[in-house]
Amino acid sequence: MSNDTINKDGLDREAVKLSDRGIGPVIDDTQRTITAAHNSVTFVVTSVDAKHAELQRMQNRIHAALKDPETARKTRDDFEYTFQKLGLQPESAVELCDKIMVMLNSADALEKIEAECLALLESIMVVDEDDSTTPLPLVLHQKLQCRAELIFSQIAPYIGQVDGKMIDYGAGDGQVTQLLHDRLCVNVEGFDIRLYTAPNVTVPIQLFDNRQVSEPDKSYEVGVMTNVLHHELNNDFILEDISRLVQKRLVVIETVPVGDTEEAMEHDKERTFMNDYLYNRLFHNADVPVPGTFETPQAWVQRFADHGWKAVYQEDLGFDQPTIKDRHHLLVLER
Ligand SMILES: C[S@@+](CC[C@H](N)C(=O)[O-])C[C@H]1O[C@@H](n2cnc3c(N)ncnc32)[C@H](O)[C@@H]1O
Repeated sequence: MSNDTINKDGLDREAVKLSDRGIGPVIDDTQRTITAAHNSVTFVVTSVDAKHAELQRMQNRIHAALKDPETARKTRDDFEYTFQKLGLQPESAVELCDKIMVMLNSADALEKIEAECLALLESIMVVDEDDSTTPLPLVLHQKLQCRAELIFSQIAPYIGQVDGKMIDYGAGDGQVTQLLHDRLCVNVEGFDIRLYTAPNVTVPIQLFDNRQVSEPDKSYEVGVMTNVLHHELNNDFILEDISRLVQKRLVVIETVPVGDTEEAMEHDKERTFMNDYLYNRLFHNADVPVPGTFETPQAWVQRFADHGWKAVYQEDLGFDQPTIKDRHHLLVLER
């Protein structure tokens, strides 16, 4: 796949529309993608129409979530929790939350709102014990330094003996992939639709379009996939592809909603979406898609079963990250 250069206003209009290449089932216009290179980061970006649709979908969902009194209250609680965990006093956390809620409820274009929210967050300084000050988004980044270690410790016990190759599907910056390689001595390959490999990562992380990794069927004995599925609008493509690629075992972590019943969890998907949105879009300017395609643990088990997998172990990891109210669920699946 060749890389086209992104131009100043964002997109190369000559770029190949991968959906026209006939890989996989026909999908709607929002899935049309082009590949671009910008500085040293390579990534798949959506076309102008798809980008507009993605932003509109997110904004509609935000407005609906904040109109629902229960979701609005829970979202506020979670945002205030995050701001306090990052070092703000309770009253400052409430004040910041008020401002963010006003901005999110506004009818302005979402891109403008997000830029203003990020500027606001960056203007807030957290005072450390030694009186030094750090902008709020940087504090979040620092607090998440141990994230890869935590994920590794959660999945490693379930990888088992790997005689063949392992795939890390949606490997992100590759930190988890590297730990799997270094600590378990497995032959692991990472793939993602965006390439932002961390500088310390030496295992191969390869870019692919968002339908199919270009490796033959059954290339991998074991697959891992952590926090990927809810980032893809049409995530059945992922289930299809990873099921094609992996022979024996999958170890999956997904963000799941909270609740005592399936119905309560269905409702909690909107709170979960708002947290995902806060973390991925308001604290970062990385244009990470947040389609919020969450499922309950039971629904994931069923969806994997539809692709030939049987859940052999499950664990509720709870709110395991230090700053964001994201509940995680571990699934170990075998054929
Ligand atoms: C939250 S990050 C998780 C990265 C890594 N697995 C980890 O846990 O550190 C989600 C990743 O999913 C990737 N992703 C989204 N849609 C994808 C798709 N269709 N196929 C593969 N990766 C995808 C994103 O590019 C992003 O790197």
